[in-house]
Amino acid sequence: MTEPRPHGTPATRRAARLQRERDAGHAQTGGTGWSSQAAGAHPPIFRPPPPPERHRTTPVEPLIGAHAEPAPVRHAARRRAAHVRAVYGLTAACVLLFGGVVAVSAAVAGHAVSDTADARLSAPEQKIVSDSVEASIPSTVPVPAESLPAPTISGAPATVDLCASADFTAALASGDDAATIAAAGGAEMFRQSVAAGTAPCVSLADPTRTWLVVNKTRPYDPTGYAPSPLALPAGVQSIVGGELRADAAASLSTMAAAAAAAGVGEIALESGYRSYQTQVTSYGNQVSQNGAAEADLSSARPGYSEHQSGLTGDLVACDGGGCGTLDDLAATAQGQWLTANAWQYGWITRYEDGRTDITGYMPEPWHLRYIGVDLAKAYHDGGWHTLEEFFGLPAAPTYVG
Ligand code: DAL
Ligand code: ZN
Repeated sequence: MTEPRPHGTPATRRAARLQRERDAGHAQTGGTGWSSQAAGAHPPIFRPPPPPERHRTTPVEPLIGAHAEPAPVRHAARRRAAHVRAVYGLTAACVLLFGGVVAVSAAVAGHAVSDTADARLSAPEQKIVSDSVEASIPSTVPVPAESLPAPTISGAPATVDLCASADFTAALASGDDAATIAAAGGAEMFRQSVAAGTAPCVSLADPTRTWLVVNKTRPYDPTGYAPSPLALPAGVQSIVGGELRADAAASLSTMAAAAAAAGVGEIALESGYRSYQTQVTSYGNQVSQNGAAEADLSSARPGYSEHQSGLTGDLVACDGGGCGTLDDLAATAQGQWLTANAWQYGWITRYEDGRTDITGYMPEPWHLRYIGVDLAKAYHDGGWHTLEEFFGLPAAPTYVG
C-alpha cells in the first residue's frame, strides 16, 4: 500500500506545493524552517477511498411542531368544531409568519440554502479555490459543509444576565470552562447569552478560554500570548515536534485513538502551537513566495493565528508507509472520519469551504480548532460553520489596519 501518488501537471504540482507549504511545519520554537517542515517530506501513501455519499446533518428543527394543535375530536359539538377551526386558522397563520421570519433571518444572515460557495467568493478567490482543489483533491472531495442548511434555530433570545448569577461568575472565575458552561445552563444557553450580549463578563478575546475567537479583526491581547501548559499528544505522532495546550493535546490523543479503533487509520499532528515569532517566519515566507494578498488568504499575520493559542492542530493521515500532506487529508478515510466525528471530541473545522467571506481564509480542512466538547456539540447540533456566526460576531474577511 505504499505506491506513489500521481504527480500531475507542473501547474497542479506547483499549486499542491504552495498549499502544502502554506500551513505546515512550524514547531514551537520555529527554528526548523518552512519548506523542510512540509509534510511532503514524507512519502505520500494514500489510496483514496471511494467518494463519500452526500449526507446532511439534520438541523435542529424550529419549534413549530411544539405549537401544533391536536386533531379535533370527531364527535365534538358544532360550536366546539368552529372554535377548533378558528384555532387552526390562527395556528396556521402563526406557522406561516414564523416560517417567513426564519426565511428572512436566514437571508439577512447570508445563509440561504441556495447560496453556493462559489457565489460567495470573488472571482480571484474562485480561481484560487479552483486551482487549489484541482491540485490537491482530484476526485474524492467530501461534501463541503456549506451545503448544509443554515442554522435556523436559536431559541428564545437569552434575556437573563448570566453575569448576575453568583454561581456563574464563580465558575467563570475558577477558570473551569466546562463548569462555566454548565452554570450557564448548557452550551447552547451559554452561546445564546454571549451572542445576545447578555453575558458581558464572558470575554471571547480571553486566549486562555476554549471559547476564544481569534480572527483578522481580533488579534491576541497580549500580542505575544503563549499558552501553558503545553504537551505532546500522547500516542500521536507530532511530525515536527509541535505541542498543543495540554487539554487539546489530551483530546487529540483520545480522538486519534478513537479513529484508529474505528478502523480508519492513523491521524498525526503536522503543526500545533506556533509562537508569535514562529508566525512571523511563516507569514513572511508566504508573503515572499506569493505576495501579501495571496498570503493573507492562507496564512495568519503574527498575532492573529489560531495556532498561537495552542488550541489548533493541523492534522494529516498516515499509514504504514508514512504520512500524507495537509492537502491529502480531506480525501482520506481519516479526514472523512474527522469531518463526521471530531465534534464529539471538542474539535471543529475552523475554515470551511464557502466561508472565506466570514473567516477571511481559504478552506483548510486540516486545520482543526479545539473548543471543548460542550461547545463543539452545540456547534455541530446547531449546524454552525464559523465561530463568528456561532457567537454572533461580525465577519472578519480582512484586517482592519
Ligand atoms: N493557516 C492559518 C490561517 C494560520 O496561519 O493560522
Ligand atoms: Zn492551521
